[in-house]
Amino acid sequence: MTRHWLHGATLLLFTIPPVAWAWWDNGHMLTAEIARQQLTKSQVAVINGLLEEWSDDFPGLCDLVTAAVWPDQLKCANHGAVCPRAVMENIHIFDPWHFDEKPYNPQNLTLPHCADQWLPNPSASFTLTSAITSMGTSNSRFAFNFMLRWVIHLVGDIHQPLHSADGYFDDARLGHLPQGDRGGNLIPVISDCGANNLHFYWDSAACQYLVNWSPHYQDHREALTQNASDLITKYPPSSFGTRYDPEHLKACWTQLQNKSKPSGVFDICQQVFVRWVNDTFDTGVPGAYGGITRNSMIPDDYAVWAKALDMVCFWKTYAEFEMSRRQIVLGGYRLGDMLRLLAEQGARVKQVPDRKPHMDLNTKIFMASTIVLAVLLVLLLIRYCKLSRRLRDITSPNDMALELNRAVA
Ligand SMILES: *[C@@H]1O[C@H](CO)[C@@H](O)[C@H](O)[C@H]1NC(C)=O
Ligand SMILES: *[C@@H]1O[C@H](CO)[C@@H](O)[C@H](O)[C@H]1NC(C)=O
Ligand SMILES: *[C@@H]1O[C@H](CO)[C@@H](O)[C@H](O)[C@H]1NC(C)=O
Ligand SMILES: *[C@@H]1O[C@H](CO)[C@@H](O)[C@H](O)[C@H]1NC(C)=O
Repeated sequence: MTRHWLHGATLLLFTIPPVAWAWWDNGHMLTAEIARQQLTKSQVAVINGLLEEWSDDFPGLCDLVTAAVWPDQLKCANHGAVCPRAVMENIHIFDPWHFDEKPYNPQNLTLPHCADQWLPNPSASFTLTSAITSMGTSNSRFAFNFMLRWVIHLVGDIHQPLHSADGYFDDARLGHLPQGDRGGNLIPVISDCGANNLHFYWDSAACQYLVNWSPHYQDHREALTQNASDLITKYPPSSFGTRYDPEHLKACWTQLQNKSKPSGVFDICQQVFVRWVNDTFDTGVPGAYGGITRNSMIPDDYAVWAKALDMVCFWKTYAEFEMSRRQIVLGGYRLGDMLRLLAEQGARVKQVPDRKPHMDLNTKIFMASTIVLAVLLVLLLIRYCKLSRRLRDITSPNDMALELNRAVA
């Protein structure tokens, strides 16, 4: 759920040294797996069928669950534990798609110019709107494949509180951050799992989900499926009350399906994603900045709250602990609702006619030898036919008679 800290003034690129870069794919894949478990087999098959078309270029990142980490893999610049591919993409143009920068300004500081304009392009909510409007009307398998990957990733991202906010502070506890904290990236903390700033700590779901994607991810598949099922059982849709509504996308989708293309459909759809971002912000952001101190260890009670462990329910009301794990589950339910609609449209997207089969060297050698052999065989047959004709000529009735006469004489 990494939000790239480089977003913003290009000048900063040269003035701030890069923050250590590590993130956790686990939360993304859990969200996707929870969504997958909300779909029918045939809906999953439609989505996987589209994603699999890129498996030559992105091996191991082409099903509903692993595609969740594809947008982060694009950012990989160096080979390492979280960037295991031999060829790194190093594409940063999409970095600002990963978050919304709704200002969190509890100290009423004077905000920089434009700080409150967090909705337009680029932002996660804008990208999601763009994705659903493309896919609601598109017949292009490329558009579907590309946008599906972003949808699966970004619905996860906007459920991580620090992907919904940019915090402005000026005090000793959190620091001098009048230009914003890049979603907690500029607040160093010390944690049990090596997450060295507040943003990374939340990306790890408070040090709970740390298993990164790798080409051998299949080894963790069973644990992921089990974790997702357990979370669904623990936090059923009804446990989210009015926050979760399976009909959220209905008006947007109905309008997109309307052949007369009513105006204002983009706004209708955008409201849905902004609502989800607002919900994440309201639920998680004030708490995420409370109780921690810059450059210090994450306190135990904060960690407990961030994890939403069951034990806290004994002494606080359930609703107060709707953090990391619950956010992952809620994101999974909402993603499931969205993918159900997209699968319906995806099933109508025409299959591209098969390209001419691509021939490799071995196939070419095999074909050439087959042709040479066939020619040789034909030549042999011709020779054989000629030979047998000559033999037949020799043993024709005339010859026989001749031979007989000769014998009688
Ligand atoms: C900031 O403003 C809000 C609303 O105007 C107020 O409730 C709050 O106490 C103010 N906070 C500070 C730290 O001044
Ligand atoms: C499954 O959940 C447990 C903790 O509940 C965690 O330690 C483990 O890493 C998780 N594995 C995956 C693949 O999600
Ligand atoms: C489709 O759009 C048209 C024009 O905006 C509108 O009059 C009509 O009611 C819409 N149909 C549905 C089913 O929403
Ligand atoms: C989101 O929150 C902002 C203010 O924080 C509010 O102005 C806007 O109406 C909200 N949007 C939705 C769709 O909830």
